[in-house]
Amino acid sequence: MGPGVPLKPGVVQEVLGAFVLAEAREEGEVAVTLGPRETALLADMPWPLRRSEWLAGRRVAKRLLDEAFGLPAERTQVVPLESGAPQVLVDGEPRAGLVLNISHTKGWAVAAAAGDRVGVDVCDDVDGVRIARIARRVFSAGEADACGAFASVQSQAAVWALKEAGLKLFIGGVFDPGARAIRVESLEPPVVTAKPAMRVALLRLPTAAVAVSRDV
Ligand SMILES: CC(C)(COP(=O)(O)OP(=O)(O)OC[C@H]1O[C@@H](n2cnc3c(N)ncnc32)[C@H](O)[C@@H]1OP(=O)(O)O)[C@@H](O)C(=O)NCCC(=O)NCCS
Repeated sequence: MGPGVPLKPGVVQEVLGAFVLAEAREEGEVAVTLGPRETALLADMPWPLRRSEWLAGRRVAKRLLDEAFGLPAERTQVVPLESGAPQVLVDGEPRAGLVLNISHTKGWAVAAAAGDRVGVDVCDDVDGVRIARIARRVFSAGEADACGAFASVQSQAAVWALKEAGLKLFIGGVFDPGARAIRVESLEPPVVTAKPAMRVALLRLPTAAVAVSRDV
């Protein structure tokens, strides 16, 4: 089955003090209640694949905000900061003390939200194999062997998700020096070293790994 605590699709789960929700992707553009800023952003988005992943991300994020924070979709908008990281508007205004992150793949859309910084990443098992191709760019010396990165397609997806979630914790766009900045020490239990230090959790969907990152 692969490393990680099972995450039930469609059910909000609390992990590391954050709330997480995953939904299986559907064909095409899913229905979601959008506010004026979101509607304008979508109108400027010509590419079908981008529109459908963006909408899937908004839908799962808004459901999470509703179920975990009691904020109905009519009151929330999820708009990009300059870095591309998502910002939550409530009744049109940025909501202090509410941080959201989103990740989407061909198979899944996942959101995580908390009172302070949180990163989330989902990696489909079929895409985890990419990590072998770019191993030299992604791993530090000895890292892949020590954490068992190549034990299975699921472990590869888990490593990828942990590294991306770690990078995304720094909402605002600190992506240098990239994946090697997050060293995966172990998958079971999930442990990474990074500067500054972070806590991580690993969750398992039927066909994908999900990682959540939090400040220490
Ligand atoms: C920004 C980045 C993290 C997005 O990751 P991705 O795997 O391509 O895509 P995901 O679906 O997981 O994440 C996209 C979402 O992240 C969020 N996001 C974008 N920029 C972000 C940032 N600076 N900080 C936090 N979150 C960000 C957005 O919500 C975005 O979705 P949306 O635009 O539909 O709202 C990615 O482009 C990146 O730069 N990754 C690092 C590259 C790398 O070295 N990867 C190898 C790891 S093994």
